[in-house]
Amino acid sequence: MERRDCDAIVLFGATGDLCYRKIFPALYHLVRRGVLTVPVIGVARQGCDVKWLIARVRESLRAFVPSAEEAVVTRFAALLRYVDGDYNKRSTFDALRKALADAQRPLHYLAVPASMFPVVIEHLSASSCGRGARVIVEKPFGHDLASARQLNQTLHERFPESSIFRIDHYLGKEAVQNLLFFRFANSFLEPVWNRNFVASVQVTMAETIGVAGRGRFYEETGALRDVIQNHLLQIVALLTMEPPVSAEGESLRDEKVKVLKAVRPLTPAQLVRGQFTGYRKEQGVAADSQVETYAALALGVDSWRWSGVPFYLRAGKCLPVTATEVVVDLRPPPVKVFGDLGPEQPDHVRFRVGPDVAIALGAHTKKPGPVMTGRPVELFVAQQQCDDTDAYEVLISAALIGDTSHFAREDEVEAAWAIVDPVLNASTPPLEYLPGSWGPPHAEQLLKGPCGWHNPGAKAQDWTRSCSPPSAS
Ligand code: BG6
Repeated sequence: MERRDCDAIVLFGATGDLCYRKIFPALYHLVRRGVLTVPVIGVARQGCDVKWLIARVRESLRAFVPSAEEAVVTRFAALLRYVDGDYNKRSTFDALRKALADAQRPLHYLAVPASMFPVVIEHLSASSCGRGARVIVEKPFGHDLASARQLNQTLHERFPESSIFRIDHYLGKEAVQNLLFFRFANSFLEPVWNRNFVASVQVTMAETIGVAGRGRFYEETGALRDVIQNHLLQIVALLTMEPPVSAEGESLRDEKVKVLKAVRPLTPAQLVRGQFTGYRKEQGVAADSQVETYAALALGVDSWRWSGVPFYLRAGKCLPVTATEVVVDLRPPPVKVFGDLGPEQPDHVRFRVGPDVAIALGAHTKKPGPVMTGRPVELFVAQQQCDDTDAYEVLISAALIGDTSHFAREDEVEAAWAIVDPVLNASTPPLEYLPGSWGPPHAEQLLKGPCGWHNPGAKAQDWTRSCSPPSAS
């Protein structure tokens, strides 16, 4: 792994929403920790100057890091530079080269729409701003398999894979990294982590917010492209991958790619798409939009370990809570020693990935009293707080030192696209669901087995599930 640190950060899209909400707060924390001491050059075409950029950074910190210390903010402001200009013009990149001064290994963060990537990449290379550089590219990485391949090709014409950092902020989340750690730092899980003991796996990413003013973006994206192709399939890869040879970046990514390639590409019968009532009235949304704000799907993983185990994934906007959870249901005991009085619900392992973080083991103990009957209990094995800024902070600091472990590799992104690609242009309209509901009831029909969808609670400790057979209306 290349450990030479970057000696400048260049932010393309410095005036955009991503910088304002995520990147500036992350950089603040890196300055505070003493990790970031190199120039930060904002690039945009707003006719602004460095004073404006400093004001924008201060505004972002007031909104997202209310506890920001003035001394740190001042240190951060002293690192800021600004280059104004059109990304289509060579002169912008000549000015950037000047601003980079004698920097040998800049980190270019492309916080711009994917359609701008080729233009920026081309100019970086032609102007020598790209020499020795690393590049961070934001999701969505392409629009489908073909465009992701095209984008990879464009990047590879100018940069080696080891210099390309494709961001999926879920990979920087403490809870997602803990999932990987928990699986491979303990030995008790391994004997049951396979088709012989696991009955099914559910991953739910629920959000109470709608498209939050991002109607135009969402019209081009939809739930499948926005969060399933990346965040949820990354979680599936971490849950299902074989043990990596080491924690080193390429070993991790080799194993994730192997398992993603074993996931059968989706067919329309494995997918339920939904759209919340009112979506079509959002700004930037077509009056007859067919874009899904909810998707539920059933996946099969054709690997030695997982063959026959259904993986159910679900993500939606305007759902009753904001929470991302994984529930791994285990098979019931082979014999009902306690007859019908025994446990109805399967034992499980539950990973709460956000907004709060927990790992819980679901089991059964005897209900106190004269009758030999059981009750479900959960043992919490981890719980801590974390937030989004942490994810960006972790990922930017890793890119600064060239650590690719928690970034998606070329073949990994393409393998994930290959899974969803066949259903991206669905011909059937999405099913309407009411905001505040758990999505279209039809999604229940995807599930096989005694239990319906597990709906995460508002808090990590909330665990309830009825195991009555799923009903669909
Ligand atoms: C982003 C999606 O990648 O992830 C958003 O574009 C989504 O639509 C967000 O709301 C959720 O991230 P988190 O960290 O809040 O779970």
